[in-house]
Amino acid sequence: MADKMWSGRSKKALDSRVNDFNSSISFDWRMYAWDIAGSIAHATMLGEQGIIAKTEADKIVAELEKIREDIASGALQIDFEAEDIHMFVEAELTKRIGETGKRLHTARSRNDQVALDIRLYLREEIRLVQELIANLLAAIADKASDNIRTVMPGFTHLQHGQPVTFAHYILAYAQMLRRDMERLDDVYMRTDCMPLGSCALAATTYPLNRHRVAELLGFSAVTENSMDGVSDRDFVIELASALSILMMHLSRFSEEIILWCSSEFAFIELDDAFSTGSSIMPQKKNPDIAELVRGKTGRVYGDLTTLLTMMKNLPLAYNKDMQEDKEAIFDAIDNTKLCLELFTKMLDTAVVRADAMLEVAKKGFMNATDCADYLVRKGMAFRDAYKITGQLVAYCIENHYIFETLPLEAYQSYSPLFDEGIYAAVDLIHCVNERKVYGGPSEESVLRQIDGIHQFLNDREHA
Ligand code: ARG
Repeated sequence: MADKMWSGRSKKALDSRVNDFNSSISFDWRMYAWDIAGSIAHATMLGEQGIIAKTEADKIVAELEKIREDIASGALQIDFEAEDIHMFVEAELTKRIGETGKRLHTARSRNDQVALDIRLYLREEIRLVQELIANLLAAIADKASDNIRTVMPGFTHLQHGQPVTFAHYILAYAQMLRRDMERLDDVYMRTDCMPLGSCALAATTYPLNRHRVAELLGFSAVTENSMDGVSDRDFVIELASALSILMMHLSRFSEEIILWCSSEFAFIELDDAFSTGSSIMPQKKNPDIAELVRGKTGRVYGDLTTLLTMMKNLPLAYNKDMQEDKEAIFDAIDNTKLCLELFTKMLDTAVVRADAMLEVAKKGFMNATDCADYLVRKGMAFRDAYKITGQLVAYCIENHYIFETLPLEAYQSYSPLFDEGIYAAVDLIHCVNERKVYGGPSEESVLRQIDGIHQFLNDREHA
């Protein structure tokens, strides 16, 4: 252990427990490709600037490319005794090309190196999460297209409120996911900023060309202050926050699915491939995926809390506490991606029980407002119409009718304004389709929403 790269000052080998405690390679190895990409850009720039010889830079770049290939192919095993991925790659390089390898770390610190690696890694992951959101949006748009006339109860306080369609219902979640997508664009923008050249904290006396490194790595900006460059983790926290909000949406949707699968609702049936049985109750079909998505939401919130708490007392600039950022954000990303993928498949394969939805929708007198509106259109004041409709509801309940089956004479005994037209007015699909207001549940409004989702996805694809 005395051969640590930083062991110049130290007289003793590191205690083995300290080595393990200090080490981050068990989780930061997954950034190896980005660590190498960053080193390639750095070495290229050092060569271009004449800080190291061009021939040496070329040699470093060529060997780093080989190391990347060897790790990818499994020919080179990561040494989990190494302190972190940065040390591992550099040690391997030096092992392979000797003295020249030692020149790579000129005008660089692991502090700006790790800041660069996380930004590179997260940039890619943000785009992967966004692809999965796009898939879910497309699945929702598809399910909605199939259910434009599938009437179901809409709820407030989980009590029957007014009729909507299944399409309109799930398109509400599409709107949430669109905002999630935009939030991630916003996080991406601030992640896309190049910190290398901040070095340990006070930049360097070497004539670096930081903008060139940014260009080589496809960054659209360069950090403005070296102390901030090495100690900013806002973008990590922002990402955890955006993922938490996204998971909150998936969790609400999961809760609906869990309810809808119960025999009390029976609004949907999950595909056998996306539900599980019980080891003792043979009749069971459980919505485990939806429950796990709901459960993992808590875990992602935990990751956000970890990050916020980890950062709250840190003085400038780098502190080792910040090494704790990676496990939290990796966990948040891994779980969110898993949830998005499985949730999409579960929704896609679920069967919508339109009959059950309609049957339940008819029982709740959700067309009462429409009955009152009918009388208003015939000239009655709304307050009077409201009162008569209330009396009709009471009459129906007592005599086991619903508005759709109540005989016309019964209607007319409450008001002579009723005629045959009342049956069309209280027909549930009619009630829904009359709500033509922009953003409402009518067929034309829902078609506009579905179109909006397709447009949104299409614009992103061609952006
Ligand atoms: N493994 C460290 C991290 O993830 C890299 C930076 C270490 N820098 C240092 N001076 N010890 O934060």
